[in-house]
Amino acid sequence: MSRLKVAVIVGSNRRESINRKLAKALVRLMGDRSEAQLIRIDDLPMYNLDLEPHRPETVNRFTQEVASADALLVVTPEFNRSLPAVLKNAIDWGSKPVERNVWKGKVAAITGTSPGAIGTAIGQQHLRQILGVLGSLVIGGEAYITFKPDLIEDGDEIANEGTRAFLQTYLDNFLTVATKLRAATIES
Ligand code: FNR
Repeated sequence: MSRLKVAVIVGSNRRESINRKLAKALVRLMGDRSEAQLIRIDDLPMYNLDLEPHRPETVNRFTQEVASADALLVVTPEFNRSLPAVLKNAIDWGSKPVERNVWKGKVAAITGTSPGAIGTAIGQQHLRQILGVLGSLVIGGEAYITFKPDLIEDGDEIANEGTRAFLQTYLDNFLTVATKLRAATIES
């Protein structure tokens, strides 16, 4: 069977995003078990129903990329104890029209990092709720990562052994659940 296609979405449009750094480190940890693709959301216009009859090309590209993936990994900052608007905007585009909701049936893992002590916990809870409403199967468990300057070394390696092992277990569980669901869907 082909490798699991994982759409990786970073909930930040900042050039030096610490969440993009974390996402790249997570892609490295997933290794050969997945074919991961980082999906842009910073070029999407603000959702507007008036644009629906002729969706902008960036929106079509985004929805196709998510739709063609088997599973979803979202790595996001927390803004004012919720998810950033840029991420919510992308979710809104993907949710319409309802018969082409790209989030439905996707196994999803959520994580994120911030310099704060609770490492995006509340933002992740809001995201979990929204994706659940849209029909994604968000895996259990929690992965709140407090960002420190030495969290990631050499571009994409989690430096701390304990944090690396924790995230490896989280991702292994995610990939196992997503692979099993894909197999069950193909069989049925
Ligand atoms: C923040 N930040 C923040 N951090 C946090 O832990 N909880 C929060 O609620 C917020 N709220 C918040 C609001 C706004 C408008 C900004 C700009 C920032 C700080 C945030 O964690 C920090 O800027 C991260 O660097 C953002 O992640 P990226 O963009 O670097 O991935």
